[in-house]
Amino acid sequence: MKKTLLALVATSLTLGAVVANATPEQDRKDLVKLYTSKYPDIKLNQYVYGALAFDKDSMAQYTSIMDFPPFGEAIEQGQKMWETPFKNGKTYASCFPNSGKNVAGNYPYFDDKANKVVTFEQAINECRVANGEEAYKEGDAATMGKVTAFGRTLSDGMKMNIKVKGAAAEAAYDAGKHHFYARRGQFGFSCASCHVDNAGNRIRSEVLSPAIGQATHWPVFRGGDNLVTLQTRYVGCNRLVRAEPFKVGSAEYNNLEYFHSYISNGLPMHASVFRK
Ligand code: HEC
Repeated sequence: MKKTLLALVATSLTLGAVVANATPEQDRKDLVKLYTSKYPDIKLNQYVYGALAFDKDSMAQYTSIMDFPPFGEAIEQGQKMWETPFKNGKTYASCFPNSGKNVAGNYPYFDDKANKVVTFEQAINECRVANGEEAYKEGDAATMGKVTAFGRTLSDGMKMNIKVKGAAAEAAYDAGKHHFYARRGQFGFSCASCHVDNAGNRIRSEVLSPAIGQATHWPVFRGGDNLVTLQTRYVGCNRLVRAEPFKVGSAEYNNLEYFHSYISNGLPMHASVFRK
């Protein structure tokens, strides 16, 4: 791993200059431009497939696995959890506009009253607590993982639609952007070193996915049955470069998710998918 990471460092110095005061929309457009001019054959909508979009064989494997997903049962269990009434008789649907259909693409959003970013997972927990149930652990695959694995499918096809309005929201977005571009760990890698500068390149046997499109399809089932939430993936990627990970559900990761989701604006959601 060490050698491979070091080999990547050389190519990760190109995008050092990120415009600090750019608007979110400018950031998104700059990234779109960067990827699409580097990879003119890959259409923007295909970025939701991540690394798979760069490799025909992996994409073919994905398509056949998604026909009969080995994780179908987990999604069914999530559906049961979503539909089973709380002790007070209400359900998750009562907590969301449109009963939870076509809403996930609005998350995370900035809650001005609470002065913080709220993720879909937190909205699920707020719903539970408001109805007299205990909150789930946010990164827990068996509870939060499954209920969001179904809950997010209700928004399949919705376009990611993150809004950043007002100074406090902008500050949260900027904090997330800072996390994304800050170098950390023993090798001094940022998220951008791998998922911007080296997107489409291989690290060992894996193609690195572009940052755009990465937030549209969670949770994923790695290897077909290992449910991984978005923020648990952040932990994994922090660890990959031997950096100290943050807590799932922390303000640090929520702000990162806010920035990270914004740059996928306009791309279609498709929850609960296969990944290698
Ligand atoms: C040393 C390189 C490296 C760094 C640095 C890194 N990652 Fe990753 N990341 C990977 C690899 C390898 C994968 C698996 C292949 C892929 O999907 O890109 C991955 C996968 C992901 C995925 C899943 C993509 C999908 O569609 O399933 C997300 C999301 C992600 N990384 C986010 C981040 C974030 C956010 C950071 C910064 C905290 C980060 N990564 C830092 C190497 C890296």
